[in-house]
Amino acid sequence: MAALGTLASGIGHEINNPLYAILGAAEAIRDGNDLARGQEHAQDIIGYCKHVAGIIKNLTGYIRPADKHGLEPVYVNTAISDAVLMARLTLLSDAIEIDQRLDAVPAIFAKSEDIQQVFFNVIRNGLQAMGREGTLEIESVREANRVLVRIRDTGSGIAPGDLTRIYDPFFTTKGPDEGEGIGLFVVQQIVNKYDGTIEFESEVGKGTVCAITFPIREPNGEEP
Ligand SMILES: Nc1ncnc2c1ncn2[C@@H]1O[C@H](COP(=O)(O)OP(=O)(O)OP(=O)(O)O)[C@@H](O)[C@H]1O
Ligand SMILES: [Mg+2]
Repeated sequence: MAALGTLASGIGHEINNPLYAILGAAEAIRDGNDLARGQEHAQDIIGYCKHVAGIIKNLTGYIRPADKHGLEPVYVNTAISDAVLMARLTLLSDAIEIDQRLDAVPAIFAKSEDIQQVFFNVIRNGLQAMGREGTLEIESVREANRVLVRIRDTGSGIAPGDLTRIYDPFFTTKGPDEGEGIGLFVVQQIVNKYDGTIEFESEVGKGTVCAITFPIREPNGEEP
C-alpha cells in the first residue's frame, strides 16, 4: 500500500507536467490565427500524449496483484541469458565484459516475461552505471529452497542516501533520455508478486551488487 501511495503521487507528478503543456498548446491553437504554428502545437500535443501513454504502458500489468493462473516453470538461467542479449543491444562499448556463471538451478514458477523483465532492468542499470568500461558478473546458485542470482557491476555505485529511494517510482539520477525511474519499481513489484527478495549493496566509485532470490517449487510442491 505504501508503494501504491508513492506510485500515485509519482504518477500525478509525472503526468501533470505534460498535461499542462497539452493544455497550453491547445489554448494556443484555440486563440491563435497562425496556421503554421497550429501544426507545431498539434505536434507538441502528440509528443506529450505519447509520453504519457508510454508511462502508462510501462506500469500496466505490474501493479496488479499476482495472477495465480498461467504460471509456468521458468528457468532463471534462460531468463538471464535472454535479458543479457536484450541489454547488450543498448551497449555502446566493447570494453564491457559480461561474465555469466550459471549453475544448473531448478525452475521457479512464474511468468517468464516477468522474470526476464526483472533481470533485464537490473542488468541494464549495471551496464548504464559502468558507462564505457567495466565488468558485469552474473551468478546463479541454489540456496536451500531458493534460487539466488547475484548481479555485480563495477560502475558508479549508489550514494548511501539514494539506496532507500531506488525503488520509488520516478526516482532517477539519469538524464531525461536515459531513464524514467520506473525500472526498479517494476522489478520490486514483480519480485514481491512471486515471494522473492531483492537487496542492493553498493559502494560509490566501486560498484553495486544486487542479490535476488525466488522460491523453488518442487515438482510435487504446490504452485504459488
Ligand atoms: N547498478 C546500479 N549502479 C548505480 N546506480 C544504480 C544502479 N541501479 C540503480 N541505480 C540507481 O537507482 C536509480 C533508479 O533505478 P531505476 O532502474 O528504477 O530507474 P532508471 O534506471 O533511472 O530509469 P529506467 O529504469 O526507468 O529506465 C537510478 O537512476 C540510479 O541512480
Ligand atoms: Mg533502470
